[in-house]
Amino acid sequence: MIIANWKCNGTKKMIFSWFEDYGKEVNFVDVLPIVGVAPPSIYFGYFSRENASLKFIEWGLQDADHLDGPRTGAISVDMLIDMECDFLIIGHSERREIFKEDNDLIKEKLKSLNNRVTAILCIGENKEENNKGITRDVLKEQLDIVNGLELDQSFTVAYEPVWAIGSGLTPEPKDINEIHKFIKDVVQSNSANNLVPKVLYGGSVTDKNAESFFKEEFVDGALVGGASLDGSTFAKIVNIFSGIDKK
Ligand code: 13P
Repeated sequence: MIIANWKCNGTKKMIFSWFEDYGKEVNFVDVLPIVGVAPPSIYFGYFSRENASLKFIEWGLQDADHLDGPRTGAISVDMLIDMECDFLIIGHSERREIFKEDNDLIKEKLKSLNNRVTAILCIGENKEENNKGITRDVLKEQLDIVNGLELDQSFTVAYEPVWAIGSGLTPEPKDINEIHKFIKDVVQSNSANNLVPKVLYGGSVTDKNAESFFKEEFVDGALVGGASLDGSTFAKIVNIFSGIDKK
C-alpha cells in the first residue's frame, strides 16, 4: 500500500501534469498494490473515477472532523463516506502539533469512522523522545486509542518519526522493521478483535531509499509526503513496491 499525502500543496496545473506523469511512469503489473492519493480536499473535483489515469488510484482525506454541524471550516467523516472516499488519514503529527489535536480527539475520529473506510492512523516520536530512548513508550501511548475497539481488517498504522518528516533523515531500515513489529504486536494485543494491522513507513521516503524499507518483513508500504508531489517520482516508488517479492 503506497499513499501520497500532498498536505497543503498543489495547483490545478500541478495536478494535471501529475496525472500525466504518473500515468506514463507507473507499471501496470498483474497484482497492483493499493495506491492512494490524499490531495487537499478543495481539489477533489479532479479526482473523478472516470479519469483513466486514476483508474487504479484510491483517494482519501488528510483529516476529517468527527461531527457535522456548526463547525466552520470542517469536513466531516459522514461527508467523506457520502463522497465515497476510500481512506482517511488521522493523527498526523502536523495535526497533533499545529492544530493541537490530542489522542482523545483522534480516538473520536477513529470511532466515528466506525470501520466504514480504511483508517490510516499516524504515530511517531519526536527527536527528543528518540534521543531519550522512549520511542516505544510514546508509540504505545499513541496506540492506546485502539484499546478495546473492534477494528476493520483494513485498519492501517503509519509509523512516521516526526524528526524524519521532510528532513531527509530516516531511521535504519532494520530499526523501522523492529518498530513495525512492535506496532503490530501492540495493536494485536489491545484491539477487541486482536487485529494485526498493516504498518506503513513515512518520513523522507524517496525513489532512492524506498527499496531499502520495502524489503523489510514488516513494512507493508509507505506514506509519502514531498516525493509524492511529482507524479513520476511517486510512480517510481509504486513500481519499486510492486517489484518486491517478500516470499
Ligand atoms: P515527507 O515524505 O515529506 O517526509 O512527509 C512524510 C509525511 O508526513 C507523510 O504523511
